[in-house]
Amino acid sequence: MASDLSEKVLEYLDQHGSVDTLDLAEFVQEDHQKVVGSVKSLQAAGDLITVEQQIHKRWELTDEGKTVVEKGSHEALVYYAVPVEGISQSVIMQTVPNAKVGFSKAMSSGWITVTKHAGEAVVRRKVDDIKDTVQESLKLIVGSTPNAVTDAQKQEYKKRRLLQEVVTKSFLLGKGVDFSISVEKPETELTQEMIASGCWKERKFKPYNLDSLGIAPERGHLHTLLKVRDEFRQIFLEMGFSEMPTNNFVESSFWNFDALFQPQQHPARDAHDTFFISEPKLSTKFPSDYLEHVKQVHSEGGYGSQGYGYEWKIEEAQKNLLRTHTTAVSARMLYQLSQKEFHPAKYFSIDRVFRNETLDATHLAEFHQVEGLIVDHNLTLGDLIGTLYEFFKKLGITQLNFKPAYNPYTEPSMEIFCYHTGLHKWIEVGNSGVFRPEMLLPMSLPEDVNVIAWGLSLERPTMIKYGLNNIRDLVGPRVNIQMVHDNPICRLEK
Ligand code: PHE
Repeated sequence: MASDLSEKVLEYLDQHGSVDTLDLAEFVQEDHQKVVGSVKSLQAAGDLITVEQQIHKRWELTDEGKTVVEKGSHEALVYYAVPVEGISQSVIMQTVPNAKVGFSKAMSSGWITVTKHAGEAVVRRKVDDIKDTVQESLKLIVGSTPNAVTDAQKQEYKKRRLLQEVVTKSFLLGKGVDFSISVEKPETELTQEMIASGCWKERKFKPYNLDSLGIAPERGHLHTLLKVRDEFRQIFLEMGFSEMPTNNFVESSFWNFDALFQPQQHPARDAHDTFFISEPKLSTKFPSDYLEHVKQVHSEGGYGSQGYGYEWKIEEAQKNLLRTHTTAVSARMLYQLSQKEFHPAKYFSIDRVFRNETLDATHLAEFHQVEGLIVDHNLTLGDLIGTLYEFFKKLGITQLNFKPAYNPYTEPSMEIFCYHTGLHKWIEVGNSGVFRPEMLLPMSLPEDVNVIAWGLSLERPTMIKYGLNNIRDLVGPRVNIQMVHDNPICRLEK
C-alpha cells in the first residue's frame, strides 16, 4: 500500500501528464519536502514516474531592499531632505538614514551639488525633480515583471545588498513506462515461502541501498587515560617487557620506602606527603632475613656502604599507606626474582599511586605512574640512556635531555626532558636511575647484577595528546563524558 500522498501524486499525473513538485506541493497543500519524499519512494518502486531535477532562481528583497521599496532609495531620501534653499552637509549626514551611500549616489546621479560657504559644506538641489529608478526597479523585480529590469541592474542591486538570489530545487514529474495509479509496495526481503511457492517471479523487490550507513552500535567507551595506558602497555610488550602485578594500592612503608633505602626520617614519609592507613594500621608479615638485611643497611651500612647510621625501627616500616609510587611494586618484584636462580628480566607497570598533594591544574592526589625496569648483569648508565631513547622513540619523541637528580634508591639518577616540537620547549617527562647496591644487595641479588629503571606519569602525556590543560578534566566531577565518548583511540606517533 502506498501512502496517501504518493497516490495523490499519481492521480495528479494521471490527469495532467506532468507537474513540477513545487506546484504540486501547493496543489495538495503539503510541505514541499514531504512531496519530494513521496516522489523518492515512488522512484524506488520501479519506473512508475519520470523525475527530472529543476533549478529555480528567483530574486528576493533583503530587509534593506524592503525599506527602499517602502520609503524610497537612499539617494532619493537624501535628495528629498535637501530644501530648495540648501542645507548644511553635516545635518544631512546626521539625520538621513544610510546618508553616506545615499549622498554619494545622489551626487553621481547629478541630483545635488555641494558648495563651500565660510568653511561649511552646503548641499543644494541640482535638478527640480527626480525619478527614483532604484525603488521602481526593485518593485518590478519582485512584482510580476522581473524581466523589465536588466541583469546588470539586478547584479548592481545585489552588490548594494538590496536584492538576493534564492535558488530552489524541485523535480519535474512525468509518467514512467510502468505508470499506474496504484503502487504495489515492493518486497524488501526474499523469503523462503516466496521461493517455495514461486511467487517471487511476480513480485517487485526494493533494491538494496548499499550506501546507507549502519546504525552505530551502542557500546562503552574507554576513558582517555585508559586509551593512553593501552598504548604504553603495547610499547612495553613490543620491547619484550612483562607486566608486574599492581593490584595492591595499600602497601606497607617497608616496601614503599625501607626496601628502597629511603631513610625513616625522610620528609616524603611524613603525613603531609603520604596517606597513611588507620585500619589496619600496621603490616606484620615480612620476609625475616631480608628485613634484617634492610635494617642493617639503613642503620649500620654494609655491601660497601656506610648506611645512614640511625636506629631503624620496625614500627615505622610496619605503617600501612596508599603507595606513593609504583617503585614499591618494583621492589617486591625484584625481591621475588632474587629468591630464585637469577635470570635477567624486563618488567613494567602502569597503575595508580597516591600523594597528599594540594590539588591544582597539574596535581592530583591520585594519579598513574608508568614504570619500566631492566635487571641484568653489568648494566650501566649507557644502557639506561640507550633504553630511554628507544622507549621514547616509540612514543614519537626523539630529542631527549637528562639532568642529574636525586632519589634515595638510585645512583646516578636523572630527570628526563624531551623537546616538545609543538610547545617549542623542553619539558620534564620522567625520572630514572640505576638502583643502588644498598637496595639490591640486601635482597641477595648477585653482586654484578644491576637494575636500570625509569618512571613517568600517565596523566601528562594524556593531557598533551588530547589537548587538555587542566588535570582535573581527567578525573572527578569535571570530566566531560562526551569527551570520553568522542576522543579517538590513542596512537602515539611512531
Ligand atoms: N619512583 C620515582 C617517582 O616516583 C620514579 C622512578 C622510577 C625513578 C624508577 C627512578 C627509577 O618519581
